[in-house]
Amino acid sequence: MITKPKGTEDILPGEIREWVKIEEFIRRVASLYNFKEIRTPIFESGELFHRNQNDSSDMVTKETYDFFDKGQRQLTLRPEGTAPVVRALIEHKLYIDNPVSKLFYINQTFRYERPQKGRQRQFHQFGIEAYGSNDPLLDVECIALACTILKGLGLKNVRVRLNTLGDETSRNNYRNALIQYFEQYEDNLCTDCKERLKKNPLRILDCKVDSKKEYFANAPKISDYLTDESKKHFEKVIEGLSALGIEYEADERLVRGLDYYTYTVFEIEYNSTALGSQNVICGGGRYNNLIKELGGPDLPAVGLAFGMERLILAVREEGIKIVGEDKLHLYLIALGNEAHTLASKLINQYRLQGISSDIDYLEGSLKSQFKKADRNKAIFTAILGEDEVKNGTINMKNNVTNMQETIQIENVQQYIVSYLNHHSHCKGCTKNTEE
Ligand code: HAM
Repeated sequence: MITKPKGTEDILPGEIREWVKIEEFIRRVASLYNFKEIRTPIFESGELFHRNQNDSSDMVTKETYDFFDKGQRQLTLRPEGTAPVVRALIEHKLYIDNPVSKLFYINQTFRYERPQKGRQRQFHQFGIEAYGSNDPLLDVECIALACTILKGLGLKNVRVRLNTLGDETSRNNYRNALIQYFEQYEDNLCTDCKERLKKNPLRILDCKVDSKKEYFANAPKISDYLTDESKKHFEKVIEGLSALGIEYEADERLVRGLDYYTYTVFEIEYNSTALGSQNVICGGGRYNNLIKELGGPDLPAVGLAFGMERLILAVREEGIKIVGEDKLHLYLIALGNEAHTLASKLINQYRLQGISSDIDYLEGSLKSQFKKADRNKAIFTAILGEDEVKNGTINMKNNVTNMQETIQIENVQQYIVSYLNHHSHCKGCTKNTEE
């Protein structure tokens, strides 16, 4: 048997409505904040992600899916959404018509990581990216959007962690202080951190292994190296969050796993046993240099991304029901050739009117067709036999009330619609009362 590749998941029919509902909700929230959807290719030119020899992030150095196509082009499956959207912004000059462009995406993302719960090799991200303004209130808006999503889904057990990496001067000064400090302990650093000490010492702060070591407590703090301008930016973010009533925890150890961040960085954790160590459901921050680095204009930017699988695991863990039962409006049991042919014509008419319906294409016995109606959670089961075809009638059974009635075939549609309009079972179909 050929099985799915390691680190990938099938999203089965039983789960898909939950995904679709959450995606619909996310799209609605994004549009409330005036973000517009963008879709970029699943693979990009390899150099988009491998542009910088000094990149220290695991994602870029160890986790990308790189390959050559038949034309010997080096391509990479998208390991995140930010660089591709920046590439599209520059390529289509989207910043010309909209000096402040606000874009979002929901798409597959690929990282060659060690799979575990909440960590896959193919996963989905919902991301937002806002370009063209360095206003700290835009940082606040991104965090607020994330919180609106979490609140709207009913997730309570969340924690926003916030930090600033400051501007270039702040980071350079801090970087030098970190190098000086950690050089004393170089022999004690893990292999990865020895490498980080040369390339990006800030990432040492993020190390799961070394951060538990004693000397860590006295490592220099970014707050002592911030320029006045960087301090002011961060203070405004904090004021803005407080004004919106968004709770956060300042965490000077938060540096994020990607190298492009400047100024504000944040992560949102969902604390639970379900996600274990993979409890960061959302991460983001400012990246004011990336557009310029990728050959575009000197535009500031801020954004974030949610891991959709982690978000959905959290929703399930909290017992939140996003969708009701997947019910079929009508299962039409047909007995005999003539009835089967007529039934196939009728269900097509009903479907065009928004009534979900089905028949048995295996033409099983009456008993087995009833079973199939049950399995499909049909609200109505109707029987069309030889006599009914002759008389132009149909026997309707309401599976909710257990009432049975024989009615004229031409009245079926009206019969079902008027029932659905008066009851809450019409979930997701002729009338959407689900939310
Ligand atoms: P990131 O922190 O690498 O940031 O990923 C964002 C989110 O994607 C994580 O918080 C996590 O929920 C989810 N995620 C990451 N790796 C996996 C995985 N292997 N399996 C399942 N979920 C995963 C970025 O990707 C940045 N591009 C975010 C951003 C946008 N920053 C600015 N704009």
